[in-house]
Amino acid sequence: KATDLQDILGFTIQLARKAGALMLEGSYAIQRAGAGSIGEKKNAVDLVTEYDIKVEELVRSEIARTYPHFQFIGEESYSSGTRPPLTDMPTFCVDPIDGTTNFVHGFPYACVSLGLIDQRVPVLGVIYNPFLEHLYTGVRGAGSFLHTRTPAAPNGQCGGTDRLPLAPARPLPGLASALIAVEWGSDRAQEPIRCKADSFARLAGAPPRGVMAHSLRSVGSAALNFALVAQGALDMYWCIGCWPWDVCAGIVIAQEAGAFVTGSKDAPHDGIVTEAVLTGRRYLVIRGVAGTPEESSLDVQKR
Ligand code: IPD
Repeated sequence: KATDLQDILGFTIQLARKAGALMLEGSYAIQRAGAGSIGEKKNAVDLVTEYDIKVEELVRSEIARTYPHFQFIGEESYSSGTRPPLTDMPTFCVDPIDGTTNFVHGFPYACVSLGLIDQRVPVLGVIYNPFLEHLYTGVRGAGSFLHTRTPAAPNGQCGGTDRLPLAPARPLPGLASALIAVEWGSDRAQEPIRCKADSFARLAGAPPRGVMAHSLRSVGSAALNFALVAQGALDMYWCIGCWPWDVCAGIVIAQEAGAFVTGSKDAPHDGIVTEAVLTGRRYLVIRGVAGTPEESSLDVQKR
């Protein structure tokens, strides 16, 4: 029920701020301590720190205390083998630190991403970047918002709460006038990297082979890419290899801001959360603005 979701939103915002404080403490500690405190998962660029685990534990335990009947899927517990099946039950889907590479380098684009799934549909999302104090929230059917302490909106207000997108979406005549987020990801085998680089070249490069978009950005956090599309700062995010905790909160925030979220042909967006928990990688395209004629040019080199 909507009222329940508003209560849960209040709880989730408090939790995101608590998690953010721990992230800041962790990021400074890691930068002081150096590389010794950084671990690796599937390869040398898939990083994990003690703070990914600490933040997930904080989030998991507070959810369990407040909502004992909710299920929990988290990136780090999933990585270490705790893989609960997705059911119809309310389920928090959490990335404790999205943008771990940024987090260890002190590049100020990392966030905690807290998504709630109900009846297998993402219904609530909170994404908090403690470095910039940008907090994004979305509730299905009730809009999405950016809460800031410094000016972010074109109205020049000094912080506060602004509905997303910050400025009215205007139709994009085509990809050529778009600012597009892409990510290199952590799969660095030559073949997928070559495919990605080729696709990036087609987006950034000049015609006839490319569409010469305004530019490409790699923010380094899937969740923040969703949030930035919702905000209107990015026109689109093209993502390969996202996991449900990367996208769950962002789906709600982006959709509530009027963005279009879709998966590849074999993974429609409503299947991302329901299937990807078990089956892993899916592809996702988000468009901030409908009606880009070259959309099909993105449908390249997907595997
Ligand atoms: C990663 C980031 C990155 C995206 C990867 C994610 P992590 O999350 O969101 O931008 O390209 O697919 O796994 O590992 O920092 O939580």
